[in-house]
Amino acid sequence: MAAKKVRRGRFIVFEGIDGAGTTTQMDRLVNWLRNRGELAEPTAEPTTGPIGTMIRQILGGRLISKPSGGTPSGIDRTTIALLFAADRIDHLQNEIEPHLAAGRHVVCDRYVLSSMAYQAVDVDLKFVRAINQKAPAPDLTIFIKVSPEVAMQRIATSRPDRDLFETLPFQRKVAEGYAACAEAYRDGPLVTLDGEVSIDRVTTEVQRAVEALL
Ligand code: TYD
Repeated sequence: MAAKKVRRGRFIVFEGIDGAGTTTQMDRLVNWLRNRGELAEPTAEPTTGPIGTMIRQILGGRLISKPSGGTPSGIDRTTIALLFAADRIDHLQNEIEPHLAAGRHVVCDRYVLSSMAYQAVDVDLKFVRAINQKAPAPDLTIFIKVSPEVAMQRIATSRPDRDLFETLPFQRKVAEGYAACAEAYRDGPLVTLDGEVSIDRVTTEVQRAVEALL
């Protein structure tokens, strides 16, 4: 008897500047999918794997500090772009692809578009795109749009630590990068949602967008 063919899971990605609320919406979407009886796995980039862990250490300024301690690592932005791309390939091979092939939906907090918006602030966009060429397009990208001022205010009230990218001038450039790439982005369908309305309203819009995929 032929084995029953498993229907491939859907690959859904959340994107937005820091403080846009992607993590909250990702968690809510996974719960909603599971409550509907769907198999769904939450995940995120940078990952919790070896390359993702290194990236977090770099962004937090905790890696390769000088002997006196406390100084930033000095790892340049091209290297960081390559690390994000490498983390992504590792993530795809070890987590995303196996889940999708087994019929589980994967809901991912950040993916290629993050690299195009963040890394392209300092590194040539064509290069960023080229090193991400092996990453397949998601079935749906949900871009949560929030102004950099609102997002930084949220970060200021929710946690004391700042990552390398969490300054208002940098977030403004990232927001411009997202706007430009979301416009020109042809790697799969993308919906843009207003992230400045209530969390519940964003969740409702997310569910509406995902329902069409199932
Ligand atoms: P973030 O989602 O904010 O992780 P956490 O919630 O643990 O802080 O990601 C960390 C930072 O990494 C964030 O500022 C966005 C940035 N980033 C990139 O610059 N490029 C990428 O490709 C990805 C995936 C993230």
